[in-house]
Amino acid sequence: MEYINNELHFGPKKKNLSSLCANYIRPIYVYDLDFIRSRFQQLAEALAGVRLYFAVKANPNPQVLQCLKSAGAGADVVSLGEIKRALESGFLPEDIVYSGVGKTRHEITEALQLGVLQINVESLPELQRIGEIAEKMGKKAQVALRLNPDVSIQTHPYIATGLRDNKFGMELSMIPALSDCLKKNTNSLELVGVSLHLGSQMLEFSGYQEALIKLKASFLSLQKDFPTLRRFDFGGGLGVVYEKQDFERESSLLKEYSAITKDILSDLKCELQSEPGRWLVAHAGVLLTQVQYIKKTSAKTFVIVDSGMNHLIRPSLYEAEHQILPLVQSNKKIKCDVVGPICESSDFFLKDYEMGQVEEGDYLAVLDSGAYGYSMASTYNLQELPLEICI
Ligand code: LLP
Repeated sequence: MEYINNELHFGPKKKNLSSLCANYIRPIYVYDLDFIRSRFQQLAEALAGVRLYFAVKANPNPQVLQCLKSAGAGADVVSLGEIKRALESGFLPEDIVYSGVGKTRHEITEALQLGVLQINVESLPELQRIGEIAEKMGKKAQVALRLNPDVSIQTHPYIATGLRDNKFGMELSMIPALSDCLKKNTNSLELVGVSLHLGSQMLEFSGYQEALIKLKASFLSLQKDFPTLRRFDFGGGLGVVYEKQDFERESSLLKEYSAITKDILSDLKCELQSEPGRWLVAHAGVLLTQVQYIKKTSAKTFVIVDSGMNHLIRPSLYEAEHQILPLVQSNKKIKCDVVGPICESSDFFLKDYEMGQVEEGDYLAVLDSGAYGYSMASTYNLQELPLEICI
């Protein structure tokens, strides 16, 4: 992201963002596919030997998915909707890992019918349900046990998933009951993997390291009973730096993450799987929005734009701070709250933010919104969804 002749340019090919606003009618998410490809290559190199399953929930745009499929990714999905989107975008059933705590009978039946690679199971009743359905269908379901190591990571509590008071995964003390169920259903259930996902936006890895050590021990002891156990899925969660573009810091975090992973898992002699979402796509997306009003009160200057929590809910939900830059640079600065049109006081992007001066009709770029942006957008207040453009 840089200004060239005072105009904001984006991505490895330095696309002039103003040119995309020529026929502007409503907010636009712009995704740079070269950027996504280069992020994928960087991650694939750092985690050489690991199969990467892109977490579709981060960005289910069909062109983004096609791009990642052709770069060599598989897909990590959490609903029948995501399975369908992945298949429509070129993924094969054998590229798909299916996670999620609430899989319905209908979803499980469809997943088995299609023959997805692996179902990551999140509870004993789910394992029983999968066994029952597969039995009726005359199929053998390939399952991985998502284990919850009861480990905390430093992130927003709403996106931490690896503690025992989270709904995700199964406590290690459940392993005997799970083993019993697997042994009773050898016709319909095949244990192929152990899986883990501690949460999202991890920038510090001591909890991750502790969890890998715990799960490695579980993997080895399960393997004695189940020789079919051959995959270790260590989930997603690698964070990105939102405050200010800092690719150097990100690449040293990536090094640390991959060193820990390899150090603990490389002697397991099994397939390693990962489910990255944010790291691949966050920086590769920006949200373009237009200034509608500059409203001054005795307390504040509000820059009111035509996009808000309906299009990018991360600031309202997780107190996330996405940098905002005007598409045309100004020497003068203002301090303002950048807010949307939605009838909620939580509808803001940034508060008390110093930014180049803007006027009604100008455009702003909300940075790093390629992950969990459009995928979490809503039509609240019956505002239209934003557009999406891939460059
Ligand atoms: N695997 C599983 C089972 C997951 O639940 C998730 C994300 C991922 C992989 C990918 O995690 P990532 O690499 O993207 O951190 N809406 C929140 C993030 C929620 C993440 C949900 N699960 C946000 O905007 O920060």
